[in-house]
Amino acid sequence: MQFSFHNPTRIHFGQNQIAQITREIPSSAKVLVLYGGGSIKQNGVYDQVTQALSRHKWGEFAGIEPNPSVETLDRAVAMVREQGFDYLLAVGGGSVIDGTKYVAAAARYEGYGWDILEGKHRVREALPLGAILTLPATGSESNAASVITRTATHEKRSFYAPAVHPKFAVLDPSVMRTLPERQLKNGIVDAFVHVCEQYLSHNDQALVQDGYAEVLLRNLKQLAEQYDQHETPQWRENLMWTANQALSGLIGAGVPHDWATHGIGHELTAQFNLDHAQTLAVVLPALLRELQPQKESKLRQMGKNVFGLSGEALAERTIEAIEALFQSLGVKTRLSEYAINRNDIVTQVVPALADHGTLPMGEQRNVDLACCEAILLRAV
Ligand code: NZQ
Ligand code: ZN
Repeated sequence: MQFSFHNPTRIHFGQNQIAQITREIPSSAKVLVLYGGGSIKQNGVYDQVTQALSRHKWGEFAGIEPNPSVETLDRAVAMVREQGFDYLLAVGGGSVIDGTKYVAAAARYEGYGWDILEGKHRVREALPLGAILTLPATGSESNAASVITRTATHEKRSFYAPAVHPKFAVLDPSVMRTLPERQLKNGIVDAFVHVCEQYLSHNDQALVQDGYAEVLLRNLKQLAEQYDQHETPQWRENLMWTANQALSGLIGAGVPHDWATHGIGHELTAQFNLDHAQTLAVVLPALLRELQPQKESKLRQMGKNVFGLSGEALAERTIEAIEALFQSLGVKTRLSEYAINRNDIVTQVVPALADHGTLPMGEQRNVDLACCEAILLRAV
């Protein structure tokens, strides 16, 4: 095992922590506050932000949509340049935070920002940014990843750059009270799959990473089983912290990663506008069935340590347990339930995967186009 691990995001966790941004953002900064469709105006978050920034110079950019589009974000880039903002504050879920990371990087790049997503420009510098999280799911608030959509071409791509790692993140679980249940359930599924992508590969005896991954998976399973308690402070706190830890770097340090479920899922969002987590709940069980031999020992370990299973056909029953967990939340596990059929896969998704240059994927780099097609057809 070999790794370097550093997570530079300072986390402020708990109620009333939004006030911390007054001290976190330099008083000399000119701050651009970026947010989405307006939920922060309904739950008091916007008011807390404006109060905390009352002695700063600041402006705002609204309207970052779910699966943030480069078309919208480029308007924010132009605003940053024209008005000289030098600090960005993302207030929202993964889409707003990812979008803000793109703005931070594109504002410091002379060329066209989409080059970053195509890997033509490697991000080395970016404006500093902070995040106020309103939806626990992606871990974007304390990682260096960003996923951006180009609506015109139905592309959804990601970039990773330490320069866009948020300087700080505020995780106040009380902001979850206005979350639609669909988003809450999506968050559980997304965090669960993040752990799977870093854990369900082959067995490499990394006791710290495996052990912590199993704790996070058991937490998410328990929170799903106790969904009727989702309005309690404890339930919200545990989901927000678990989802953050699922993709903040520690469990993935030095171990093989998969990420093919995400790679295939992004194409489904780009083509059919499914929510990110909806794509994952459909793809993961099919991928695990397709690749069961190479993941057999880790699936058995997960079956024992997460689901408390034992006996025959442990790997198969672990996959069934994962699928049942998603279904128990009401998140669908078949493409046909979204009216997507075999023909849609063959004529739309497979050609898009062939075009986007992301193959092969998976921890053994063996998830090629034929394998993706097989996974998707299993998922119908
Ligand atoms: O636009 P607003 O008004 O903020 O409403 C949002 C949006 O409609 C709403 N919402 C968020 N917090 C709320 C709330 N509504 C009421 N009360 C609140 N407290 O929820 C809707 C969905 O928000 P979105 O940010 O799109 O959801 P999520 O956090 O699941 O983010 C999904 C995006 O993150 C990317 C996904 O691909 C997708 O584009 N991901 C980013 C990752 C990363 N950077 O590491 C990893 C993930 O795997 C993922 O790919
Ligand atoms: Zn995800």
